Amino acid sequence: MIGKQVRIAPSILSADFTALGAAVGAAERGGADLIHVDVMDGHFVPNITIGPPVVKSLKRIAKVPLDVHLMITDPDKYAEAFVEAGADMISVHVEVLPHLHRTIKFIKSLGAKAGVVLNPSTPPIAIEEVAGDVDFVLVMSVNPGFGGQKFIPRSLQKVTTIRGMLDRSGNDNTPIEIDGGIDLSNIASVVDAGVEIVVAGSAIFNAPDPTAATKALKDAAAAAVAP
Ligand code: DX5
Ligand code: ZN
Repeated sequence: MIGKQVRIAPSILSADFTALGAAVGAAERGGADLIHVDVMDGHFVPNITIGPPVVKSLKRIAKVPLDVHLMITDPDKYAEAFVEAGADMISVHVEVLPHLHRTIKFIKSLGAKAGVVLNPSTPPIAIEEVAGDVDFVLVMSVNPGFGGQKFIPRSLQKVTTIRGMLDRSGNDNTPIEIDGGIDLSNIASVVDAGVEIVVAGSAIFNAPDPTAATKALKDAAAAAVAP
């Protein structure tokens, strides 16, 4: 992928929840372009994490936009609260939305960027009819719910397929984000496949120096883009 700038979105899921402000600052000093916030409701995924009050607090201290990933069964009900709390980007799972087109329009009308997310078992065709409407597409490269899982290699092929779908829809500037199991060993391959936003949780916040880990991922992504 030549000529594109890859953005790094550290996921605070693997950070120390008693010190989220410090975690955000550390990632930003390493060159984080976004902060990825994983919202889980214990229904769509087996885990429970955070809600709008935490997003509101993060918004007060974050210098970069907040990328809020809603792993919840009813995003239509809660999207507005997250945008009001300060979410700049909201992504919703296609698996829970019978009226995906309406949901995308709704999130955009709130003033946030609207993204759609596909689980590893969800085929790209699930988003074909909205490919021209979305602001970004998030490809899950692990089954959502937990940090620290292993990257599913087939995700690379999915990224390539979705890149083609977005380009054909006329949405050739719409970025693809990837989430799950990304580290220094595979970041070049996802960038090569066409990813422009890379989420990384454990590779950053389980590292001894999250600032250095963010910078290392960013440098590796930039090197993969270089002609
Ligand atoms: C998984 C979350 C991810 C997670 C990524 O359900 O959506 O954002 O934090 O963590 P790592 O990078 O450790 O796979
Ligand atoms: Zn996520």
